[in-house]
Order: sequence, then structure tokens, then C-alpha cells
Amino acid sequence: MTRFTDKIVLVTGGGTGAGRVVAQDFAREGATVIVAGRTAETLGTTVKAIEAEGGRAEAIVADVRRNGDVAALVGRITERYGRLDVAVNNAGMLLAGPVADLPEEDWRAVFDTNVHGVFRCLKHEIAAMRTQPDGGVIVNVSSVIGPYLRIPGMAAYGAAKAAVSALTRTAALEYIREGVRINAVTPGPMDTPMSLRPGETEADRAERLEKELPAGRVASLEEFSAAVRYLASPESAFVVGQDLVLDGGATA
Ligand SMILES: NC(=O)c1ccc[n+]([C@@H]2O[C@H](COP(=O)([O-])OP(=O)(O)OC[C@H]3O[C@@H](n4cnc5c(N)ncnc54)[C@H](OP(=O)(O)O)[C@@H]3O)[C@@H](O)[C@H]2O)c1
Repeated sequence: MTRFTDKIVLVTGGGTGAGRVVAQDFAREGATVIVAGRTAETLGTTVKAIEAEGGRAEAIVADVRRNGDVAALVGRITERYGRLDVAVNNAGMLLAGPVADLPEEDWRAVFDTNVHGVFRCLKHEIAAMRTQPDGGVIVNVSSVIGPYLRIPGMAAYGAAKAAVSALTRTAALEYIREGVRINAVTPGPMDTPMSLRPGETEADRAERLEKELPAGRVASLEEFSAAVRYLASPESAFVVGQDLVLDGGATA
């Protein structure tokens, strides 16, 4: 038995990057993992990787910008598995540009995915979890950019992630007495292409972070995944409405 044996876990954005590693690690700890995103192919790759290790996983194509998709996603999980124990709202995107030059459609796109997407997921996940005898746990994925740090060119992304942190805290207060525990993991730069500045290679990023960050490097996806699983596990039962900041000392 492990912390997540027989748990039903949803990971949005589970087809790539950090979400894929989170999905694989939950499966290694015994969970049945549902990965959701817009791209069937990448989701399928995650499912195959999990099944190749003897784990259980399913891919469901869903766009968090569409309320109907999110409703159908959560509905299919609860119909098929009878419950939803853990949800990791990890789907996100980054569009950069200084405010005066940022097309309004880019601003809206970032908010539609990163803020409204998390809101839609929370709505449907909470509705399912609050009816369950054992409740449920939700981990939103924020970023230090926004709630803790401001970076020129990242206004839309930062404002969106600051909103995710505020949304997380408020929803946590609203539902903890109904058995739904909600927190956020709030990373600094992680080892995916999203942390590359325009035109930067991984080697350039390593050089930049060696100078910029107290820890001198990017977070590994395993470090991120460990933080997500801590917040999803009973070990963190008294942690409610927090940002678990994972940033190599950037905001210390
Ligand atoms: N990498 C970093 O340095 C860093 C730092 C702090 C926070 N974060 C956050 O960590 C999370 C994961 O990022 P990552 O670095 O792993 O980047 P990534 O590989 O680009 O992952 C983002 C995932 O979200 C999915 N997604 C995007 N839009 C979606 C939509 N409308 N509906 C459903 N799924 C959608 C993408 O899949 P599809 O395109 O197939 O839909 C993709 O799998 C994001 O929330 C990001 O903001 C990243």
C-alpha cells in the first residue's frame, strides 16, 4: 500500500511537461490517473508510459476554456470510477509581452486558460468531491511570477497566476468544512520549455539561473511532483489554502 493506492486522480495538462511527471508519479504510488488536455497524442503518450510500468491511466481530451468539456470530464470520471479523490489543476499557458504592446486577445487567452480554466475545474471538481463521504483534495498550479515576483513582459501571466493564488485561498476557506481541501503549488522556473526566455537554449537558461537564483538551477519535475503529492496526501491534512512555494530561494 502506498499513499495513493486505488485513489482516482485527475491531472489537467497531464500530456506534457510537469503534468506528465505528476501523472506518472501518482500512478507509481498506486493511483488510477486521468490525464486531460487538448491533444490526444501527448495524453496517449503519458498513458502508455504509465501502463508500461504496470500502472493505470486514462486520457480524456478536454479544453479547460470550455465549461462543457470540463463538466463532461469530471462527469465521465465520476461515472466510470465512482468518485474523484484528487485533482491537480495544472493546465496552463504563457504569452509574454509588455502591457502596451500586448494584444487584448493574448491577455484574454492567458486568463481564459490560467484563471477561468482553474475556476471551471474547481467548480466541477468541488461539486463532485463535496458529495463524497471522504471528500477530496485539489492542488492548483500557480507560479511565483504574479503572487510573489513581477517580471517585465509577464503581466498577463503574472496577473493570472496571482488570481489563481487568490482563488485557491478563497475556495479553500469555502469548502474545507465540506471535506474538500484546496492548496496551490507555486513554482519558480522548472525544467520545461516554459521557463526558457525567447531565443534561449537550455544551456543559456542554466547560465542565467546560476547567476539569478539562490539555488542556481531550475527545479526538476520530480521536485515539483513531490510537492504536489505532499499537498494531495493525508500528510498535509492541516495545510489549507496555502501556496507551497518551490522556487530555489527566489522569494526568500
Ligand atoms: N515551467 C515553468 O517554469 C513553470 C513555472 C511556474 C509555473 N508553471 C506552471 O506549471 C504548469 C505546467 O507547465 P509546464 O511547464 O509543464 O508547461 P507545458 O508542458 O506547456 O504544460 C501545460 C499543459 O497544459 C495543457 N493545456 C494548455 N492549455 C490547455 C487548455 N486550454 N485545456 C486543457 N489543457 C491545456 C497543455 O496541453 P495541450 O496544449 O495539449 O492542451 C500542456 O499539457 C502550468 O500551469 C504553468 O503555468 C510552470
